[in-house]
Amino acid sequence: MRVLLTGGAGFIGSNFVNWIIENTDADLFVIDALTYAGNLDNFTPSVWGSTRFHFIKGNICDSDVLYPLLKKVDYVIHLAAWTHIDRSLLDITPFIETNIKGTGVLLEGLRKYHVKRLVHVSTCEVYGEAKYLPIDEQHPKEPLSPYAVSKLAGEQLVQLYQKLYRIPVVILRPFNIFGPRQYPEKLIPFFIINAMLDNPLPIYGDGTAKRDWLYVDDLPPVIWKIMEMEGVDGEVLNIATGKGMTINEIADCILNTLDKPKTLKRHVEEREGHIKQLIGSYKKVEQLLGWSPTVEFNQGLRKTITWYKENREWWTKILRRDSYRKFVKSWYKGRIQLRL
Ligand SMILES: NC(=O)c1ccc[n+]([C@@H]2O[C@H](COP(=O)([O-])OP(=O)(O)OC[C@H]3O[C@@H](n4cnc5c(N)ncnc54)[C@H](O)[C@@H]3O)[C@@H](O)[C@H]2O)c1
Repeated sequence: MRVLLTGGAGFIGSNFVNWIIENTDADLFVIDALTYAGNLDNFTPSVWGSTRFHFIKGNICDSDVLYPLLKKVDYVIHLAAWTHIDRSLLDITPFIETNIKGTGVLLEGLRKYHVKRLVHVSTCEVYGEAKYLPIDEQHPKEPLSPYAVSKLAGEQLVQLYQKLYRIPVVILRPFNIFGPRQYPEKLIPFFIINAMLDNPLPIYGDGTAKRDWLYVDDLPPVIWKIMEMEGVDGEVLNIATGKGMTINEIADCILNTLDKPKTLKRHVEEREGHIKQLIGSYKKVEQLLGWSPTVEFNQGLRKTITWYKENREWWTKILRRDSYRKFVKSWYKGRIQLRL
């Protein structure tokens, strides 16, 4: 079996690559543009040592690079995206380029080069503010950030191509994912690293915004299973835990675990469009696949903290890069002081 993974050098992608090489016999092709969020250090030595792993540096918007790969494979898992909401509030351009245009280029390719299944990874952010809890797949979609709008547009293109051209697709809407190798700007790694460096933890508003957090190891088995499953074309599935944690609770857990003072918590002004509650129902995926989350939030957080403690070199390298420093300076300018 030959599988193409787009965006495989990012957080979810690289954890997935490591899992695929360890747990399957598939030949794996990874295309990644290596933006600021893509990182070759994310692949383990056994991935690099595997003859089944093929890495291609390339942009999904470039059909000359993408289409020869589509010709070769049986399945496509589409993860490539610009993913940071805060960054999308600073500059929408790359979000439109990759999340909408890139998805369109991929879909056009799939009209010519047929695969058994495209698994399109969308996001819970397409729902916007919860009108009821837990959010199921029928919930209205009223995205509240440029990132979320671009993901909804990408997802709608996928649905359209499924209807018009019968491209065999399944759409997944994961809620918040966390774990090792997540880029240090995202909430949990940002808090862990700041706490380790005795920097403040910036908390939007009063910190009561509640999200559903799934540990990254719970994701690969469900993506793999749905990829191969027959009779599910056109399905849209949440991947969630059904439980919520507030930003305050997350900050407290991290500070407690690292034995750091609560005074590191720093409330900053609320982010535009910051969603108050986003907690998902996983009933549909449970009924269809028998999947349910296996890692409790606190257990996943402990594993994540341990990974960041043991992999200081991985994140210090990123913290020294211009892309990280520039973002942190322009986004948190005037709100908090961070020692980098
Ligand atoms: N992390 C989460 O909490 C979460 C939750 C729900 C959905 N998702 C979705 O899962 C997917 C992966 O998220 P992540 O957290 O791993 O993101 P990430 O930002 O860590 O990784 C994205 C990867 O895509 C690559 N990329 C970006 N533009 C590209 C392009 N034009 N061509 C090729 N590669 C490109 C980047 O280099 C990077 O390696 C995304 O589609 C995201 O929307 C993530």
